[in-house]
Amino acid sequence: MRFVPINCIKAGMKTGKKLVGKNDELLLNSGVVIQQSFITKIKELGYNGIYIDDDLSEGIEIDEIINEDLKYKTVKSIKDTFAKIGKGKTDSFEYIDGFSEHLNLIVKEVLENRDAMVNIIDLKIFDDYTFYHSVNVTVLSLIVGASLGLNKSTLYNLGLAALLHDIGKVFIPKEILNKPSVFEKSEFELIKTHSEKGFQFLKDNSGIPAHSYIGVLQHHERFDGSGYPMCIEGKKISLFAKIIAVTDVYDALTSRRPYREAMTPSEAIEYIMGSGGTHFDPKMAVCFTQKVAPYPKGTCVNLSNNTMGIVVENYRDYCLRPKVKIIKENGKKTEPYYLDLCKDMSALGITITGMEDEKA
Ligand SMILES: [Fe+2]
Repeated sequence: MRFVPINCIKAGMKTGKKLVGKNDELLLNSGVVIQQSFITKIKELGYNGIYIDDDLSEGIEIDEIINEDLKYKTVKSIKDTFAKIGKGKTDSFEYIDGFSEHLNLIVKEVLENRDAMVNIIDLKIFDDYTFYHSVNVTVLSLIVGASLGLNKSTLYNLGLAALLHDIGKVFIPKEILNKPSVFEKSEFELIKTHSEKGFQFLKDNSGIPAHSYIGVLQHHERFDGSGYPMCIEGKKISLFAKIIAVTDVYDALTSRRPYREAMTPSEAIEYIMGSGGTHFDPKMAVCFTQKVAPYPKGTCVNLSNNTMGIVVENYRDYCLRPKVKIIKENGKKTEPYYLDLCKDMSALGITITGMEDEKA
C-alpha cells in the first residue's frame, strides 16, 4: 500500500483503504478500482490523497495507531457533544458520557503502541474539519503524553482537554468561523475568545478536572509569551496546553482547508522543529518529532541520487533517514530493491529531497 496525493490519483488505481463521507457513509471500500467520477468526488470532499494498492507497493502494510472505526465513532460522538452544547444543553456529565468510552479505548490503544514511531497520513475531509481535527489532536497529544511517561488516568484527562480544546468555537458565529477568506481584525479578535469561552463553559458545567479545562484555556499560549489569552510564557503554561499547542498546529498545517493546500508531514515537522523555544516548548517539539514520522510509511519520496521509492520503515532517532523501497531510477521503473538510509553504508550522503511528484 502507498499514499498517493490527490492530484496524482488516476482512474484504474485500486484503493488500499476504505473511504468514508461526512456522515460516516462508506464511499469506497478498500480494493476497489477507482473510476474518474470518484476522483472528482474525492477532490470535492477535500481528501489530501488516498492509499492505493499496486504491484510497486506490495507487501507494505500501514499500521494504524488507532483502529479506524474507533476514530470514526469518536468523531461522531464529539460532533454530537458539540451540537448539544451549541444548543445550550448544559447538563453536567451527560455529554462527556457520550465519548468517555471511546476516549478510554483510544488511551488503551495508544498505550499498547507506545514504543512505535507513528506513521500518520490523515485521510480527512473538509466538512467535518473541526471534529476530525479534535480527534486527531487527541490521538497525537496522547502519543506525546505516553512518550513523556504519563500514566493512564493523566492521559485520559489530557485526552479530555484535547478533544474539547476548541469547544469554545460553538459560541462563535458560524458565518465568521467558516469564512473562506482572510479574517478582519475584529473577527480574529472574536475567534480568539474561543479558548476562554470553552474554559468558562467547561469549568461551570462539565465536572471535568481542572487540569483539563486549564489545558483548554491555554492551548493558544506560546512558549515565548506571544500567545493568547493571557500572554503567559514557559513554565507558567500547563503541560497539557504545551502538548496540545504542538499537536493542534501540526494537524492544522497538514489539513487541506478551503483557502489553502495542506503541508506535507515533513514540511509541518520542519515548522515544529524550527519553532521549539519560540512558539513551542522545545521539549514538546523534540518529543513530537521523535514520535511522528516526517516521511510516514507508504509515502513516495525522491532521493538525491535520482531515485524514487516508498518509505517502508522509520527509525525514532533518525527520522529523516528511513528505509526505502526503491522503485524508479532516473525517472524509469527499476527492479525494486531496498535502501536503508540509516544503516546501509552505500546510502551515506544520500538524502530525501522531497515527495514524489507524479505529474512530472
Ligand atoms: Fe483553538
